[in-house]
Amino acid sequence: MNWDSLFADRTQYMKRSTVREILKLTARPEVISFAGGLPAPELFPVERIRQAADTVLAERGPEVLQYSTTEGMPELRELIARRLSHGKFQVHPDNILITSGSQQAVDMLARIFLNEGDGVIVENPTYVGMMTSWRPFQLRFTAVPTDGDGMIVDELEPLLADHPKLMYAIPTFQNPQGTTLTRQRRAQLAALIARYNLPFIEDDPYGELRYSGDPAPSVLAMEAEHRGATGLDGSVIYCGTFSKVLTPGLRIGWVAAALPVIDKLVQVKQATDLHTSTFNQYVTYEVARDEAFLEAHIANLRDVYRQRRDLMLATMEEHFPEEVTWTRPEGGLFLMVTMPEHLNARDVLKLALAKDVAFVPCDDFFIGDTGKNTFRLNFSNARPERIVEGIKRLGATLKEVV
Ligand SMILES: Cc1ncc(COP(=O)(O)O)c(C=O)c1O
Repeated sequence: MNWDSLFADRTQYMKRSTVREILKLTARPEVISFAGGLPAPELFPVERIRQAADTVLAERGPEVLQYSTTEGMPELRELIARRLSHGKFQVHPDNILITSGSQQAVDMLARIFLNEGDGVIVENPTYVGMMTSWRPFQLRFTAVPTDGDGMIVDELEPLLADHPKLMYAIPTFQNPQGTTLTRQRRAQLAALIARYNLPFIEDDPYGELRYSGDPAPSVLAMEAEHRGATGLDGSVIYCGTFSKVLTPGLRIGWVAAALPVIDKLVQVKQATDLHTSTFNQYVTYEVARDEAFLEAHIANLRDVYRQRRDLMLATMEEHFPEEVTWTRPEGGLFLMVTMPEHLNARDVLKLALAKDVAFVPCDDFFIGDTGKNTFRLNFSNARPERIVEGIKRLGATLKEVV
């Protein structure tokens, strides 16, 4: 059977995620992997989640095992709306749709907005999971250049003359670079979004994981403030998730957006999976409604991840050759390394794997044919002694090739 001849044309633009393929190679326990975007499993609040599962089953058993509304559990939507509201900017629960992880939100947004050939503006590099989802729409991606302070907003306005359909960005602790858009650039961006009515997808899985520097408000909140709006009625569409602050396995994410966008997303979600797991929403709510617990848990994540980031950066400083540079993130899970132009991260990965260390080459995160000399390191998932040993081995590999 020649299945390839039967698959729809659009599937030729689909491919397996490089990150997930590399994760398979790193399954051997002796491999020190900085490849995945994984939270530290030893910090998952397993006991708290077990209690929550017991409670919801004991108190509302049949209900939590039943089909439920597409929009999501009302109490969970209220909790998310409250956490997104600040001062005059008040988000209403009707503006929230619960999704099966923020990846589903990113995927469904493409399905409601994008026609073949549409222009889309993204950062360069950008989140590979978005590219995997959006590539089959055969879009015209335009890249805004970035530096250590996130996207260079000055270079954005000329691109808007081309009437892009929308823009997608990760302003805070970006994946793969770990960089964050400064407050001043956020204000500039918020003004542009408002002036051009530009649909802007703010993907923010890492915003709560800040380890140093001053917090910056979301682009969602800044754009509303710029217009003097008190509710969520602008063109920013915000994607959030419990994956990095609680656990990714429950697959609970959300979209916060203007009501017409939520309404259209509900239609797509009904076609996709009817609704996000009722049980997982109840369990998540049962844990998260104890906001003192949630805040303490996130504070602990920040402490541990801060130490791991600092340890990785200090060890890199000591063991990486001087020809190599890297970002110094104030939060999130990643940093990005840039080697001299002539080196290819995929070749270096083969040498690193021979020393039982893994990372993710970043070429797939770039628009266009650049970024071959870059790779991403995750610092949240490895224990301190493995960070030191892994970075030493990687440093030795880099010194060989440089
Ligand atoms: C930028 C970005 N968006 C979305 C996701 C998807 O997260 P989830 O579907 O677990 O909420 C990730 C995960 O790594 C990410 O880095």
